[in-house]
Amino acid sequence: MARTDFHLGGVHCKNRVFVASGTFGYGDECRDLVDVERLGGIMTKSLSLKPRDGNPPPRVVETAGGMLNSIGLANIGVHRFVAEKLPVLRLLNTVIVANIAASSVDEYCAVLDVLEDAGGVHAYEINVSCPNVREGGLTFGTDCAMTAGITKRLRARTRKPLIIKLTPNVAQISSFARAVQEEGADAVSVINTLIGMAIDVRTRKPLLSTVTGGLSGPAIKPVALAKVYETARAVRIPVIGIGGIMCATDAIEFFLAGATAVQVGTANFIDPAAGVRVAEGIDAWCNDHGIDDVGKLVGALDAKGGVSVLESWL
Ligand code: FUM
Repeated sequence: MARTDFHLGGVHCKNRVFVASGTFGYGDECRDLVDVERLGGIMTKSLSLKPRDGNPPPRVVETAGGMLNSIGLANIGVHRFVAEKLPVLRLLNTVIVANIAASSVDEYCAVLDVLEDAGGVHAYEINVSCPNVREGGLTFGTDCAMTAGITKRLRARTRKPLIIKLTPNVAQISSFARAVQEEGADAVSVINTLIGMAIDVRTRKPLLSTVTGGLSGPAIKPVALAKVYETARAVRIPVIGIGGIMCATDAIEFFLAGATAVQVGTANFIDPAAGVRVAEGIDAWCNDHGIDDVGKLVGALDAKGGVSVLESWL
């Protein structure tokens, strides 16, 4: 069997496949359906300080090869998460990564402080990239100085791994990754959703209540791969690849492009066991191809003879 484990900012993970925030609830709901302990880890739904109802419906639309969402960070708030979800998550033998969203820098700090006091999460993923809220989200994540400043404030408050989830809705994602690396981030998640929209031509109305939303699923995989490739060539910290991973070979493409680990997202809406299936498929692929350590695939792209235009940014 190939070696699958690795360390993420000092936290031992049994494999390199996580489930993406917003696609797997808080991590406790699917435990009777899916053997979540076969995942490398779980990124929880985004947590804010106070509960949020999110955006009005319709807030999910299927598109060709993808899904548009405009959930608006609906969640139960960090205090209910600590009281109702963490006691269950603490019993699971997998890595729990709390995803934090906020509409101010102080709110990010306050949510992180509540989680630090509670204990039981292994790492934090900081959502500075939600495309569906007016405050926070992309207003932070498309501003490099702001993204770096949030990282700096949070770094000062925790020794646990800090993973910054970056938006692809910028010209050079690598400059954001470099900026958060300089402020002490342990890893970056690349990418959150792309801004998209869909229209009903009969009514001439948008299909989402918020007109635009975030596009995910197989439709965005080529974009995500290029962003991972660009980012991994620019930073020393691990890049966690996300974007349309449906099967093991999709994940292996991300490893070859430079991702140290991957997150399975939209596929969970089709099959909540998609992450486990991907993890097992990676093992099988490695065994079939004589790979003794999944880590040996990371950045192993053979791009000889090809020079990407991205090189000029690096
Ligand atoms: O609308 C949402 O809750 C989406 C969040 C995200 O993409 O980060």
